[in-house]
Amino acid sequence: MAATVIDGKAFAAKVRGQVAEHVTRLKAEHDITPGLAVVLVGEDPASQVYVRSKGKMTVEVGMNSYEHRLEADTSEADLLALIGKLNSDPAVHGILVQLPLPKHLNEDLVINAIDPAKDVDGFHISNVGLLGTGQKSMVPCTPLGCLMMLRDHHGSISGMDAVVIGRSNIVGKPMAQLLLNDSATVTIAHSRTKNLADVVRRADIVVAAVGRPEMVPGDWIMEGATVIDVGINRIDAPEKGEGKTRLVGDCHFESCAARAGAITPVPGGVGPMTIACLLANTLTACCRANG
Ligand code: GUN
Repeated sequence: MAATVIDGKAFAAKVRGQVAEHVTRLKAEHDITPGLAVVLVGEDPASQVYVRSKGKMTVEVGMNSYEHRLEADTSEADLLALIGKLNSDPAVHGILVQLPLPKHLNEDLVINAIDPAKDVDGFHISNVGLLGTGQKSMVPCTPLGCLMMLRDHHGSISGMDAVVIGRSNIVGKPMAQLLLNDSATVTIAHSRTKNLADVVRRADIVVAAVGRPEMVPGDWIMEGATVIDVGINRIDAPEKGEGKTRLVGDCHFESCAARAGAITPVPGGVGPMTIACLLANTLTACCRANG
């Protein structure tokens, strides 16, 4: 049986529509416009694309977008001073510092300088701790988007066996925590995991977040499992012409789709949900700030 392809693009458009409706009401009834500040240090091409896209979508849902582009050699003191200013600016409800930062900047120090109430990425150590103890927190956008798709597809994931491949602070660890909070039985697999194929074969839910193109083949997937592919990898595509490239996930789509019950495509799966959740988090931060 062919897998259901989970349409992240359509789901994300629905979420953004709901956010936009809420923003319209906030403006009309309370004269409040949520504001998101995005800070980009340096000229990493992928980060520039993401930041432009975030700014565009922020404005499309009726929020204010504040973009701060800093030189690659910006000092830690100057970056911390900007974060301090954004923390105390009442028009700014959400702050996102695009990662990775240039090597001379301490990412932990910078992220933990953000007011946790404005930390729409959910990376501040306070939010990590709140999520880890099942308390109300800001939830990292990519794992939140994955969870929303899983809940939408399954209703409840309670008692299901979930394997998260990848242990990053941005995706793998918070994803595992969210699955656990929803009462799934969770395994975190990573580059040192023994018999990865066998671990993945036991899973009702596979979340792949390693950043290695098509590393999960279809014969690792249990018949009928749900596959959430977080990877966005650009690879050469000589079949499209000389010098051409294409985007692929961490899972080999065709062979995984042949065994899975449901699967997210790349592009058009998890990616659009990440930005939709960022906007939802900004709205949440604004509502909490205004009681
Ligand atoms: N770089 C890659 N993903 C992310 C993300 O979700 N948030 C931030 N701030 N930087 C990123």
